[in-house]
Amino acid sequence: MAEDSLTIVDNRTGKSYQVPIEHGTIKALDLRKIKVDDDDFGLMTYDPAYTNTASCKSRITFIDGDKGILDYRGYPIEELAQHSNYLETAYLILHGELPTQAEYDAWASHITHHTIVHENVKGLMGSFRYDAHPMGMLMSTVAALSTFYPEAKRIHDVQNRRHQIHRLIAKMTTLAAFAYRHSIGLPFVYPDNSLGYCGNFLQMMFSVGKYQVNPVLERALDLLFILHADHEQNCSTSAMRGVGSSEVDPFSALAAAIAALYGPLHGGANEQVLRMLQEIGSKERVPEFVKEVKTSGGEVRLMGFGHRVYKNYDPRAKIIKRMADQVFEVKGRNPLLDVALELERIALEDEYFVKRKLYPNVDFYSGLIYQAMGFPMSMFPVLFAIPRTVGWLSQWDEMLSDKDQKIARPRQIYLGPARRPYVSRDKRG
Ligand code: CMC
Repeated sequence: MAEDSLTIVDNRTGKSYQVPIEHGTIKALDLRKIKVDDDDFGLMTYDPAYTNTASCKSRITFIDGDKGILDYRGYPIEELAQHSNYLETAYLILHGELPTQAEYDAWASHITHHTIVHENVKGLMGSFRYDAHPMGMLMSTVAALSTFYPEAKRIHDVQNRRHQIHRLIAKMTTLAAFAYRHSIGLPFVYPDNSLGYCGNFLQMMFSVGKYQVNPVLERALDLLFILHADHEQNCSTSAMRGVGSSEVDPFSALAAAIAALYGPLHGGANEQVLRMLQEIGSKERVPEFVKEVKTSGGEVRLMGFGHRVYKNYDPRAKIIKRMADQVFEVKGRNPLLDVALELERIALEDEYFVKRKLYPNVDFYSGLIYQAMGFPMSMFPVLFAIPRTVGWLSQWDEMLSDKDQKIARPRQIYLGPARRPYVSRDKRG
């Protein structure tokens, strides 16, 4: 009997089966051989929301939720946050190794020179309603880019894939800034290739006349982008992989990932955090709100708390909290910070949250910082989508090179009516 295997005894038949264990998992397909008779389809697993299913093998991001560890390609997030910048981290995530100086220069130059968009994209974005949500605009425009670059369909051509990846990482900041400018009726600002990735984004967002990029804010944004660059198989990444598994072009698959990120339980959470803090209004009202959360039977959630994987303090939240002070020094203290700090203090001492291992996640403080930097709430999910683009694309690229993968197609347990004959309308009722 193999040492790394599981023996399953089927009480219905008395038969026993040996299922190999590799990397702490068994292959769901190995369970298929457990049958009562030849006509039996075989045993399946039931795992709604995939809470205990590994859908791929990946070499990109490692998370230990119990210990609060996050590594990209083996490098701790804390070290990358301290020493790296977003473009270098993006290179690491995509290529697997940190770049040499020459590799970094070539990469930065590629990304910088792809920031401009076709003039027709401007026309497309200009035709959205005046109050269109920037995330909706971003999602639709990224999907529309597939019509500008039809060659992106050749997804098995590795060089071509790289080309589209450069385009997407570069153009996301331009599209995001255009979406914002449209929503406030300001003319679009073209990219300035003499600036860095985040500095350029800030000038496209905020410049009216002469604009000087503040280095503290540029670094803060860069740091936030590092923290959001990848997070293994979350909802939007699974959407990217799932949709990409049909071999559609990367622009269409990325639009699907953006759609998944748009939801309030995923990328929309930091907007919800700010709304919640505003609603609470003052430190004094925090205990009352916490009580409401606890007695609501799951109806009211403490937004920015809890995580499917982290059952400890989210390491990204710790880094963000430390960086917040630098931004507040430049832009003035966000008055909602006191409400957030009090909420965290009370929740971390409260049995309800302790018992369920609910800690602040990345979204608890990021919204406060974005708001202090001058970003409106509607831009928060967009600010998540920009850096996550490299994560989505790296996961997509990895999937396409993985021989184990095929078109995603889960099974179901059918509980509807048994087969029955059609009844004409006059005989129903
Ligand atoms: N406030 C109050 N109770 C909560 C919260 C919360 N934020 N999160 C979970 N719970 C409770 C939940 O009611 C349940 O209690 P019970 O066992 O009594 O039914 C228990 O904790 C387990 O919750 P769950 O829904 O099974 O946990 P999950 O792993 O499915 O959900 C989550 C993870 C992130 C969706 C959830 O914690 C949540 O809704 N948090 C608020 C939204 C949020 O901050 N989302 C951002 C996630 S981080 C960004 C990202 O990576 O996308």
